[in-house]
Amino acid sequence: MAHLRGHERREYVARIFARISRRYDLLNSIMSGGRHHAWRRAAVRMAMEGQAGPALDIATGTGDFAVELARRREVSRVVGLDITLPMLNLARRKVVKKHVAPKADFLRGDAHALPFADGGLACITVGFGVRNFPDLPTALGEMARVLRPGGRLAILEIVHANKEGFLAKLFRRAFRTVTPWLGALLARDREAYTYLPESVREFLIYDELASLMGQAGFQVVQRRSFAFGTVAILVGEKSSP
Ligand SMILES: C[S@@+](CC[C@H](N)C(=O)[O-])C[C@H]1O[C@@H](n2cnc3c(N)ncnc32)[C@H](O)[C@@H]1O
Repeated sequence: MAHLRGHERREYVARIFARISRRYDLLNSIMSGGRHHAWRRAAVRMAMEGQAGPALDIATGTGDFAVELARRREVSRVVGLDITLPMLNLARRKVVKKHVAPKADFLRGDAHALPFADGGLACITVGFGVRNFPDLPTALGEMARVLRPGGRLAILEIVHANKEGFLAKLFRRAFRTVTPWLGALLARDREAYTYLPESVREFLIYDELASLMGQAGFQVVQRRSFAFGTVAILVGEKSSP
């Protein structure tokens, strides 16, 4: 996978997520020890602080972030965007089941070319998505473009801590070895669940992500970490011109 770039890598990622879409929620709950909903709620709270208006959830997957956003009174509408159609179909069903469908729409699209006008959105969330983007500076630039000045971007991601303690190392090793087996067992797709830990190994350390956000025009205003520093929320505010 590491050798794939640009369009080819996007296609590969979309194929992988299409294959695991039906088991994605279950595996998410197992792999995060049931914590991912709390992390999402925290990210949405931080993203919406001082904001009101339309929201976008990029790489929405099965729509958990879109549901959390739609539940908030300050969010007028939410669009969930993803490149993988089977994920979007599950997200559409989820918002109906969770009674927030009237506020939510889903759209097939790519984080590197957002189908939105400049400066219209109050907030953007991206959960466990940015590590899949082959050109993160371009994707962050697009996020800055469609947000209004002062609007917020919250990224929830598995990261490498700058200095990893013993527990973080242990957690990472377990993630690398256990995830493919879990994938094989539950999703019957070992390749897909080998991609996950691999995509994390390739990924940036915490401070590098913050610095890329800065280069794209965000001021990082809040940070939180969980699971011994291996999961982080970074919140950036789009600087005023
Ligand atoms: C690990 S899942 C995360 C799903 C969801 N945000 C969550 O928190 O559970 C990653 C998602 O990113 C999507 N994705 C990957 N590359 C993308 C891109 N270039 N543009 C939009 N979505 C993308 C995949 O289709 C997949 O649904």
